[in-house]
Amino acid sequence: MTEALDELARLAGRYRAFAADEAHGVSPHYDRLTQEIAESAAVLRFLLDLPAPRRQPNLLLGAATLIAGRPPDIASLTGMIANRANELRATMLQRTTQTNEPARCAVLLPLLAALPQPLALVEVGASAGLCLLPDRYGYDWGEKRIAPGDPAAPMFRCAVTGSAPLPTALPRVVWRAGLDLNPLDVASDEDTAWLEALIWPEQEERRRNLRAALAVARRDPPRVVRGDLLHDLAPLMAEAPAEATLVVFHTAVLAYVSPPEARRRFVETVRASRAVWISNEAPRVFPDIAARTSQPAPHWRFLLSVDGEPKAWTGPHGQSLEWFASGD
Ligand SMILES: C[S@@+](CC[C@H](N)C(=O)[O-])C[C@H]1O[C@@H](n2cnc3c(N)ncnc32)[C@H](O)[C@@H]1O
Repeated sequence: MTEALDELARLAGRYRAFAADEAHGVSPHYDRLTQEIAESAAVLRFLLDLPAPRRQPNLLLGAATLIAGRPPDIASLTGMIANRANELRATMLQRTTQTNEPARCAVLLPLLAALPQPLALVEVGASAGLCLLPDRYGYDWGEKRIAPGDPAAPMFRCAVTGSAPLPTALPRVVWRAGLDLNPLDVASDEDTAWLEALIWPEQEERRRNLRAALAVARRDPPRVVRGDLLHDLAPLMAEAPAEATLVVFHTAVLAYVSPPEARRRFVETVRASRAVWISNEAPRVFPDIAARTSQPAPHWRFLLSVDGEPKAWTGPHGQSLEWFASGD
């Protein structure tokens, strides 16, 4: 009994922390709703019946949105739990948080464009593979812009500080492939509806850009292979053409890989290959790389690095690039 109450209190604390650390200042709607969830015994009990990894705020909010549209308030969420609990549970068991944010290409592009061309790209944890198409989008870094070849393609805005080597031309990609535990299909209405449901309210630009990127991807879908980055990377890298610069990259993925020893094994595999390794992850994912920066990580940023060398703090959705001075 006390144990169950402890678990309930821990879960409430997790939703309160989500509201304060992640939603506050970003999504007033989710900030309020997750605070209310933390006070709702009905929602917390529903969550406690799910396996621990399936109790995440983003998974609950995405699943509720997929089923009945964005819950406007806590009453509609408790109503859904009273009337459609099985449907909500099934969605939360079937789906995982696979947010695919193509705007992250805006922070990858300076690194990709600076490499010897052409490129062969392998993205691990690719979701639907939208970040595998950096050469099909447009970019607006303020002082520099690159228009997309296709006027219907999205144009990603990214605020830059520091002397980032902003490119003037798109990289030339001659081969690309993704790897994911559960590839999403850009041609599937269910999968693309799930990707949209994962975008937070108030983030209309992200939603518009996602739709535009999906339309671009549908015309020539990126290949994403089902597999585990810990076991299935080497055969995929071996397929890349020898004359291209091979790049293995990942954004918002390695936090899902544990323990840290497993992440180290992944890095060893990449570093033992001919590939250039680009990582764009929360700083705690590779603390040894974060320790090489001279500044503490600003709140809610990713750390961009190439071959283990820190290059910049980045907005987690590709919305900013804070380039380090050399020597940082
Ligand atoms: C948050 S999504 C990020 C997707 C994409 N990289 C982006 O930035 O838009 C994380 C993805 O990593 C995948 N993933 C997690 N662990 C993995 C593993 N061990 N091997 C392959 N993919 C993995 C998940 O299935 C999910 O699609």
